Amino acid sequence: MCGIIGYVGPRVALDVAVAGLKRMEYRGYDSAGVAVIVGDHIELRKKAGKIANLEAELAARPIAPTQIAIGHTRWATHGGPTDENAHPHISANGRVALIHNGIIENFATLRQQLEAAGVPFQSKTDTEVAAQLLGREVEAGADLADAMRTVCRLLDGAFTLVALDVTQPGRLVAARRNSPLVVGVGEGENFVASDVAAFIEFTRSAIELGQDQVVDLDRDQVTITDFAGRPAQGKPYEVTWDLSAAEKSGYDWFMRKEIFEQPRAVADTLLGRFTDAGALKLDELHISEGHLRAVDKIIIVACGTAYYAGLVAKYAIEHWTRVACEVEIASEFRYRDPIITGRTLVVTISQSGETADTLMAIRHAREQGARIVAICNTNGSTIPRESDAVIYTHAGPEIGVASTKGFITQLAACYLLGLYLAQIRGTMFGDEIAGVMRELAATPPLIQKVLDTLEPMRDLAKRLAGKESFLFLGRHVGYPIAMEGALKLKEIAYVHAEGFAAGELKHGPIALVDKDVPVFIIVPPMGRDRLHDKVVSNIEEVRARGAHTIVLAEEGDLDVAPHADTLFRLPRVSTILQPLVSIVPLQFFACELATLLGYDVDQPRNLAKSVTVE
Ligand code: M6R
Repeated sequence: MCGIIGYVGPRVALDVAVAGLKRMEYRGYDSAGVAVIVGDHIELRKKAGKIANLEAELAARPIAPTQIAIGHTRWATHGGPTDENAHPHISANGRVALIHNGIIENFATLRQQLEAAGVPFQSKTDTEVAAQLLGREVEAGADLADAMRTVCRLLDGAFTLVALDVTQPGRLVAARRNSPLVVGVGEGENFVASDVAAFIEFTRSAIELGQDQVVDLDRDQVTITDFAGRPAQGKPYEVTWDLSAAEKSGYDWFMRKEIFEQPRAVADTLLGRFTDAGALKLDELHISEGHLRAVDKIIIVACGTAYYAGLVAKYAIEHWTRVACEVEIASEFRYRDPIITGRTLVVTISQSGETADTLMAIRHAREQGARIVAICNTNGSTIPRESDAVIYTHAGPEIGVASTKGFITQLAACYLLGLYLAQIRGTMFGDEIAGVMRELAATPPLIQKVLDTLEPMRDLAKRLAGKESFLFLGRHVGYPIAMEGALKLKEIAYVHAEGFAAGELKHGPIALVDKDVPVFIIVPPMGRDRLHDKVVSNIEEVRARGAHTIVLAEEGDLDVAPHADTLFRLPRVSTILQPLVSIVPLQFFACELATLLGYDVDQPRNLAKSVTVE
């Protein structure tokens, strides 16, 4: 989704803005632009395509150094990805330049009114109405912050806005409803951005703006109000990671770096959750034990990869707690009138904490009386703020659009939640919980072991680079992993891939199988799992139809070898925790294949890292 940066301070503002935009490239975008104040006018540069195009434009038409700038990467919604539709937008009277993230739902009506009043429009965007409205307000004599508040009260939808006024070259005003916005507080300089990555190079002191707030900043002061102009508070915090976390550190892709960070990410997520006395503790779970004991249904809502983490969680939670657990795609949830009572616990999973579909789903669940537990990787983001409790994953910043360490830490957090509920509800003995915790705590070295043996996946990617379609099969917790493996391939290698429950194959999808369709199969642990032999039969079913079988099975499983064209060994773990090791080769295969095919792994076409529109 769009990336926004505003800067005011002593540095060359344009350089700060362009550097910030580059750090937010991962969010996904299709045009980029900047605006600065030079003398009595606003200078604007904007181009469709990558930031490199904007840089070429800046090189061709340079701008003298200034100490204020706004910059934007746009992910097109209203109006195609053209130069004209790129942000910033300048009001027709030349007074203000404005950038926006989100969707202004009532823009058509507002535009009609403005056009009827003779205001000429340059673009097809919803954003331009906000620029025109703001320009008219300040021209009529309103103070810039008052004008911003007035405009915000006129807009429906989701919006983060940042604007500058040509008559006030040391001042920026920004507003936030539903889309993210963070203030970076420096010494004699201040920043606003969609994401702390944009200014982490300069300051780690951040203030998260609340819903419906306006921030007014110059180089020395930050003043926050609500949309009515009443003084308001943001939420100050220190960013705990540094610039290196937002850099590739020698890897070709962020995604590859993040795949290799997974042992540490899981270890960090598990750290400190287990007391010396052998009990699980989740400090951030501010819902009473009595309430959690009374829960009679759990609904997990999430999107994409986080949804697949939720599907794995269902197996663990139902097995350990005996509470019925549904998993639902967030964008479907509220539109089907779900049955929710005060005894329903809604668990939401989101790496970014800003996904609009997920946010709307939890708002709906809260209105119906449910308590919400968020599993989230982004400190201070909207979803945990609007939840009753949060279990933070400690993956660190995930920059690659295709989620990897975000997913694996979501799995770890789901296991923790399941075990915690089992502890409170008394559905497992203390030593059973301690046993699973010990096994969980032992997984980071096992994930590392998988990472150390990935070479065959590299060769496999070379051999299969021309294939147009892939299938992924699994059963039990292997089924969501099959779907996640397929999603990775679709997202970054742009090949058709589907994940199926292996037992469902014969009910239809097997018709797709032939010699040109490689099939990945995740095999449950041998002997200790009753599904093992059934999956081995499923491998034979596809092999008999000519498919190239790539079998992921644990060390020592001798039964599978005769059925595998390619055999990848997984370390031994219990069935329910196997996703922590089985997903890794699938992530790596997708990264490898996309690299071989020459695609931009970190910024796949049409995708955004955090989807802040419904
Ligand atoms: O930030 P979230 O976890 O809420 O994002 C949910 C999905 O948009 C996300 O997982 C998406 O499917 C990823 N691109 C998957 O790699």
